[in-house]
Amino acid sequence: ELHRIPHPPYRLPLLGDVLGASRTRPLQDSLRHARRLGPIFRRKAFGREFVFVWGAGLTADLADESRFAKHVGLGIANLRPVVGDGLFTAYNHEPNWQLAHDVLAPGFSREAMAGYHPMMLAVADRLMDRWDRELAAGRAVDVPGDMTRLTLETIARTGFGHDFGSFERGRPHPFVTAMVGTLTYAQRLNTVPSPFLLRRAAHRNDADIAYLNRTVDDLVRARRTASGDRAGDLLDRMLETAHPETGERLSAENVRRQVITFLVAGHETTSGALSFALHYLSRHPEAAARARAEVDRVWGDAAVPGYDQVARLRYVRRVLDESLRLWPTAPAFAREAREDTVLGGVHPMRRGAWALVLTPMLHRDPEAWGTDAERFDPDRFEPGAVRTRPAHTFKPFGTGARACIGRQFALHEATLVLGLLLRRYELHADPAYRLRVTERLTVLPEGLRLHLERRRTSH
Ligand code: HEM
Repeated sequence: ELHRIPHPPYRLPLLGDVLGASRTRPLQDSLRHARRLGPIFRRKAFGREFVFVWGAGLTADLADESRFAKHVGLGIANLRPVVGDGLFTAYNHEPNWQLAHDVLAPGFSREAMAGYHPMMLAVADRLMDRWDRELAAGRAVDVPGDMTRLTLETIARTGFGHDFGSFERGRPHPFVTAMVGTLTYAQRLNTVPSPFLLRRAAHRNDADIAYLNRTVDDLVRARRTASGDRAGDLLDRMLETAHPETGERLSAENVRRQVITFLVAGHETTSGALSFALHYLSRHPEAAARARAEVDRVWGDAAVPGYDQVARLRYVRRVLDESLRLWPTAPAFAREAREDTVLGGVHPMRRGAWALVLTPMLHRDPEAWGTDAERFDPDRFEPGAVRTRPAHTFKPFGTGARACIGRQFALHEATLVLGLLLRRYELHADPAYRLRVTERLTVLPEGLRLHLERRRTSH
């Protein structure tokens, strides 16, 4: 059934197409193959065959929820020892997925988001204090490092009433180091024929997991023993809310998995999205000027923007969308056949067979995005242009029932922060910087630093 799908020309019995592949940049390696082999292709690794899809038509077919569903495989399955049946890594048939989804969905409603807004502002203030200090000291700012401080503090505070003190530390919080350790380990497991080869790293990984668990258990214990008003945050929902129909509650073990899931899923990708957006803004002064003019116009003299004033930053949002188009920070998602079916009317798939959608290539498919798809141009997200594009061509948050639950959260946070930064600073790129993308299941711009200048406004 695979014979119609192209593959790289040289194939070796054991290592297959992985020989010569990049250990540290497997995604960008696949993107290179994609450009040569077309909208669907396969690669062999360690005796297994993987199918990759990025064509807009085939992806739209995979988005058909009646025939396909999320597949928990590869990098995601490697996270199961850490987060088990947490929301992100649960198999479709596991009852805790529906339970947690229903209990937590109200935590992402409009009302809930409006409640998080003041906390998001408070965290952004701490970022700007730090940037003011860097500026006064004549230093360039470490964009991915500081965006990670910001997004970790935001999800920890809004979700769990916790403060990691990231802005007071020179180095990343040990929670971040442990998390990066497990994500990197999960990715590396896909690049070796046997986990045995990583046994030293496996020891470190066990220690990382133990640290993540301990941090979360402390946080939950502190909440359980706290007296007083309910915080109304995600942790409250996890601990106190029963399912509206069945009355069921999350078990203690499952709460632990959900807290780690949200702390990780809730910050790493948003940090990357903000970092890429700042990179493109620094390289496209005309887009930065338009975005800044919009912020000045929409926010006016307001000392702090209100909740409703964030969604009104339409152009800033387009900058963010365009950054997520070129570098969707969760760069792939997998789909499996619910039944025997034929993908795109051409490729037969048995029930359970699956394919990996390469989002960065989908987002560059000339059929959907034109021949200049590599160019950064936020106007692609003007309403008129969006209406004429086929469905399912922009998928940074995945698709269907298992799409990102935190989408609105991420978009609100990132738009707010971009607005605040544009209002306060001019961003200057280092002319010598060339975009290099680091991979650890998610992607981020490696070593990106920007020089700042305060704008002559009161904000
Ligand atoms: C799922 C991307 C921010 C929590 C997903 C998926 C993608 C994604 C692609 C689907 C994965 C799959 O199909 O296997 C992103 C991006 C973000 C972002 C690009 C930022 C720009 C967030 C935030 C949160 C969050 C802020 C939490 C506050 C989750 C969870 C899931 C998920 C819990 C699993 C949902 C389920 O399976 O029911 N995200 N995400 N994400 N995301 Fe996000």
